[in-house]
Amino acid sequence: MDPLVALAEFETQALAAIAGAANAAALEQVRIEYLGKKQGKLKDLQALLGKVPPDQRPAIGKRFNEVRDAVTTAWEQRHQALQQPQRAATAIDLTLPGTPMQLGRLHPLTQTIREFREIMARFGFEVVDGPELEDEWHNFDALNIPLDHPARDPLDNFYLSAACTASGKPVLMRSQTSTVQVRVMEHRRPPVRIVSIGRVYRPDDIDRTHHVMFHQMEGLMVGHDVTMASLKSVLGMFAAAYLGGDTEVRFRPSFFPFTEPSVEVDVRWKDGWLELGGAGMVDPNELVAVGYDPEEVSGFAFGLGIARFCMLRHGIDDIRLLYENDVRFLRQF
Ligand code: DAH
Repeated sequence: MDPLVALAEFETQALAAIAGAANAAALEQVRIEYLGKKQGKLKDLQALLGKVPPDQRPAIGKRFNEVRDAVTTAWEQRHQALQQPQRAATAIDLTLPGTPMQLGRLHPLTQTIREFREIMARFGFEVVDGPELEDEWHNFDALNIPLDHPARDPLDNFYLSAACTASGKPVLMRSQTSTVQVRVMEHRRPPVRIVSIGRVYRPDDIDRTHHVMFHQMEGLMVGHDVTMASLKSVLGMFAAAYLGGDTEVRFRPSFFPFTEPSVEVDVRWKDGWLELGGAGMVDPNELVAVGYDPEEVSGFAFGLGIARFCMLRHGIDDIRLLYENDVRFLRQF
């Protein structure tokens, strides 16, 4: 056979076989059949080449090289292609609108907490944290709450069963963030200026305004010459920063074991007064309990419920919504 015709035939057949190989195994068969070093068809052609008259050899040799390279390249490309993962058979319609991304957002209480922290930090109050699981010393004793005080009633607190506590001493979910006052003062010398925002737990009946878990912001400032006037101006500035304008603040006499004197704090809101929480001058007994000298330093403290602010800002009328995590509710903020 004319070597040029034989080369052309080889090329056509080899390329068709390569294109038709459906998988790697089939392609390997094609390689052995056409390009195999021992007895492939290309090898046969090479033998044929040896019989070509010398004057035709350069031209046919050149053609041989071209065909060999073309077939080898085609084989390698097909080999590569078969190693790629198979694309889905269906075409992709690039004109279709995309699937919108679901973006999460901050819980309204988290937004309030962040804003409170930011406001208080501006006034120079450091933000600290305390544990939610507490002992009686930090939740009651050091706060000057006597043994027979109703706030210590086991039915009004979430005590853990003694079996759960390593020390065997009573442990409870803290009922107030005032615990953090004690923890901070135990480890620092005055001056102290902190706020602590976190969860507290009380076995209340759940209704529109009560829950068994809620959030408080505790504030504490201790130093020389800290007075009731300091308390009033800090809370006034806080109310103005959060609620806006020159919000009027009102103190009503009250009682807390850990403050003397004690007050309830209200701010002017629309036509009435809004209750912010409790406050007062840190009781000397508490200062002594943490190793401070009440003759040397004085302090004020306050504890505010967080949910009320958040509900006020957003017109939410049921505290349960804040703790039930219904996304239909949460998506609105
Ligand atoms: N711990 C009090 C409560 O949970 C609130 C409170 C009142 C905190 C007076 C204070 C304070 O720091 O001085 O009801």
